[in-house]
Amino acid sequence: MSPPDIELISVKNLHKSFGVTKVLRGLNFTVRSGQIHALLGGNGAGKSTMIRIITGGIRKDDGEITFSSSNAAEPKIAVVHQELALLPDLSVAENIALVHAASGRSIVRPRQQAEIAHAALSLIDPQLAARDLHLKASELSMHEGQIVEIARALSTGAEVLLLDEPTANLTAGETERLFLVLRRLVREKNIGIVFVSHRMKEIRQLCDVCTIIRDGLTAVDAAPLSTLTDSEIVHQMGQPAHRDEQRKRRNITTAEGSIMLKGPTGDVLVRKGQILGLAGAPAGPSQLIALLNGTGRASRWSIAAEGWPSHPLSPRQAIDLGIGYVSGDRHTKGVLAQLPIVDNVLASRRIRERRYWVHGEERNECMELVQRLKLKAGSIWDLPGTLSGGNQQKLLVARWLAMPLKLVVFEEPTRGVDIGTKRDIYGLIRTMAEQGTTVVWWSTENVELLELCDEILAFDTEGHAKGLLPPDRFNEDALADLTGMAA
Ligand SMILES: Nc1ncnc2c1ncn2[C@@H]1O[C@H](COP(=O)(O)OP(=O)(O)OP(=O)(O)O)[C@@H](O)[C@H]1O
Ligand SMILES: [Mg+2]
Repeated sequence: MSPPDIELISVKNLHKSFGVTKVLRGLNFTVRSGQIHALLGGNGAGKSTMIRIITGGIRKDDGEITFSSSNAAEPKIAVVHQELALLPDLSVAENIALVHAASGRSIVRPRQQAEIAHAALSLIDPQLAARDLHLKASELSMHEGQIVEIARALSTGAEVLLLDEPTANLTAGETERLFLVLRRLVREKNIGIVFVSHRMKEIRQLCDVCTIIRDGLTAVDAAPLSTLTDSEIVHQMGQPAHRDEQRKRRNITTAEGSIMLKGPTGDVLVRKGQILGLAGAPAGPSQLIALLNGTGRASRWSIAAEGWPSHPLSPRQAIDLGIGYVSGDRHTKGVLAQLPIVDNVLASRRIRERRYWVHGEERNECMELVQRLKLKAGSIWDLPGTLSGGNQQKLLVARWLAMPLKLVVFEEPTRGVDIGTKRDIYGLIRTMAEQGTTVVWWSTENVELLELCDEILAFDTEGHAKGLLPPDRFNEDALADLTGMAA
């Protein structure tokens, strides 16, 4: 007997405005059991807003939301929000057990907490499950925090899972494991899943149907993914079609301005204007990145180059040397939440030039950057908290486009950025490189590295550098082999 097909959540004619900005203007959306539903739309389309309305975080202006379930009660819903929401002072075990306690169990003892957390984490990350789960959440890396949140949601036994860009911080191997678990839950428990992502490859791997939000309305309503091509999806999102340009391979040979990165297992020569990709789980790349951004005094990597110290001693010194850094953790290490967009964009220039005022010229420059990155904001005087996730990310990238640099380090700069704007960011970074800035780029999205880089340094899951991949060996399988992760 086939499992019952239930309409678990039905959203009809949903309206929501923030001030004068109308975000949702009559949106329809349905979550059915036994299905993985991709929720798509450009940055600022209103995906997270709809999820926050469904889960009660914010209020709708108008419209109807109905919930139904096989056992008459409302379906239990678990959500992974786009921005991490662990309680920093509670332990990993407490953070996970919390939702179990909230769902009816009165007291959960520490032993039980650890058991619940262990079982939850074992679902997707046995290594993390084996760690001391009394560790505080604030001691986790962002990437581990993401896994804890996902594990927590998966372990609640919910009938509906709402996952708002859960894979944005995960490596290819972790994503693959997550997908296996999600598929199994749908098959065995007949749950309904909503999955938000800007990574087309993942969407195709995982999802059955897709809904696309455009201009606050439902442009595509639960269409089977097999009936849409990638370019139709991009078009329905209201984004310009992307031309598949053949990447011009550059052959940079000048030695002037080169930097030698000396590592524990070998040296890497990076030439001026070259784009060096870093592939693999964060453990390896983070050591090298820390060296470059001035937080890695004790890093096992060092620099050997004319006029450069072997280890920049502080972020300030790194900036003074002409090194820019876009942190992958926009939440705690990037966005200046208390300052308006304009100050966020001009922050690094101010540090470098020690200037603290905005005059007309700067304001125009900020406006220009905002337009180049299609940063969707009410005004440059708004606070970053009013921006969607992808637009906050663009803010961090904009910050370093406003000044000349010798070298720039990007940690997942396109995390959460929509497909159309990703191309714009690639273009801007390529231009920076062509103008002589050396680029070091870490990404967990291997396809992105293969598209953009001149050479790729791969790290295995233990954090060891496994060698440099030249362009003639660029392919997904080679990279998957070296990083020890599925392509
Ligand atoms: N608290 C708020 N105040 C003002 N505007 C807001 C607020 N929250 C969201 N917005 C605006 O609502 C719009 C939709 O944002 P939302 O976060 O839902 O987008 P999204 O589709 O999730 O985008 P992304 O892919 O970038 O995450 C954006 O233009 C955003 O600036
Ligand atoms: Mg969002």
